Amino acid sequence: MPKVSIAGTDKIFDVKEGEILYDALSDRGEELPHGCLSGSCGACRIDVIEGQENLQPAGLVENNTIDCLKEEFSQKNGKEFLENKHIRLACRAKIKGDVLFRSLK
Ligand code: FES
Repeated sequence: MPKVSIAGTDKIFDVKEGEILYDALSDRGEELPHGCLSGSCGACRIDVIEGQENLQPAGLVENNTIDCLKEEFSQKNGKEFLENKHIRLACRAKIKGDVLFRSLK
């Protein structure tokens, strides 16, 4: 059973393979920042610190939103902000294995 952990906390959740990260945590009482829940607003953005390969690859809608977020982060914080960051959207990311992440403001 995959484990999803939130960096900087002691929160670790047992989830089922194939669950969407946002839904999995919401069902277990952990409400992440969110908006549209359909991959277009970017409010549920996360930085996947470990286990990027344990999320199903992003689809077109998620990738488009991530590109916009990257542009926004670069303008606001400089390009170096994106170094070593693996941005995904919690409302779209399907879990295949263990993941460690933090929310991105
Ligand atoms: S909640 Fe809008 S993109 Fe995830």
